[in-house]
Amino acid sequence: MTNKQNRATAISHPNLAFIKYWGNQDDRLRLPVNSSVSMNLHGLQTQTTVEWGENLEGDTLILNGNYETGRALERVSAHLDVIRERLNLTMRASVLSANNFPMGTGIASSASSFAALTVAAVAAGGGNLTERELTTLARRGSGSASRSVPSGFVRWYKGDSHETSYAESIAAPDYWDVVDVIAVVSGQHKAVGSTEGHQSANTSDLQAARVAGADERLRVCCDAILARDFASFAEVVEMDSNLMHAVMMTSRPPLFYWLPATLAIMEQVRRWRADGLQVCYTLDAGPNVHCICIRKDAEQVKSGLKVLSGVLNVLTAPPGGPANIIEHATE
Ligand code: DP6
Repeated sequence: MTNKQNRATAISHPNLAFIKYWGNQDDRLRLPVNSSVSMNLHGLQTQTTVEWGENLEGDTLILNGNYETGRALERVSAHLDVIRERLNLTMRASVLSANNFPMGTGIASSASSFAALTVAAVAAGGGNLTERELTTLARRGSGSASRSVPSGFVRWYKGDSHETSYAESIAAPDYWDVVDVIAVVSGQHKAVGSTEGHQSANTSDLQAARVAGADERLRVCCDAILARDFASFAEVVEMDSNLMHAVMMTSRPPLFYWLPATLAIMEQVRRWRADGLQVCYTLDAGPNVHCICIRKDAEQVKSGLKVLSGVLNVLTAPPGGPANIIEHATE
């Protein structure tokens, strides 16, 4: 390489899975045991600048204004190794990353973080890769990050190799007027993170049954999105979330992510639906409840959630766009 210093900035949104990723065929490559589908969350975003430098002695990471040295830096540096190998680079990088959603909201940032890091690092390193390949590279940093690279509603194929486990958009953000209304019931950092959780999924006797039905649920969910069929969507999305949490609760050791308010909200959502609102719930590896609803019902759901006991905050996110380069400089 010459003495160039290459820099690029990308933004990316977190995503909410409707059919969940839980458990890997291969932990190192992050090849999941089942395919999944999600929606990017507009308004919540990570912005990341990567600058490769000949004279840097090591990778550095500034995350939300803090100089990181421990596990966060190690994970980013390991991901930069994957990108260095792909682009044939030996340079180190300085990474500056910030989320516009505070850490304490319980919204997972690994998807948007690794999507933005991948897209910025590849552009800054002069790589001109297809979106499909970017999704496979992002996956190596965090599985769900593969789904934050394409736009709108996104399907991640489990595949059976690095190249075949990729994500693609199945519909643009404006295809369906749904909104994620997020009831935040805890701002605490989760006790057991997803990476550890994936590794324990197989210790549950229920994981095999969850995985056996995953392809069929994925098909029903994608069809429901494409047909804008909320009733069929609600049924399969809640079932898939319940199945994942049943696996979590029956893993060894068991993982209980729910708080009392979590269950109360789930029951309330089902009552609202019985009363005619188009709303359903899904939960990730934490106690906050994502209430997906049709846009016309969002205000009513939001004000209903705000007055429930245990609800600390309510966030709203419509479908979001892809990971994007917003600045690219070559000196
Ligand atoms: C429950 O993608 O965060 O949110 O690959 O170890 O980074 P790593 O895990 P991650 O797992 C996401 C789990 C989930 C379900 C989902 O988003 O599909």
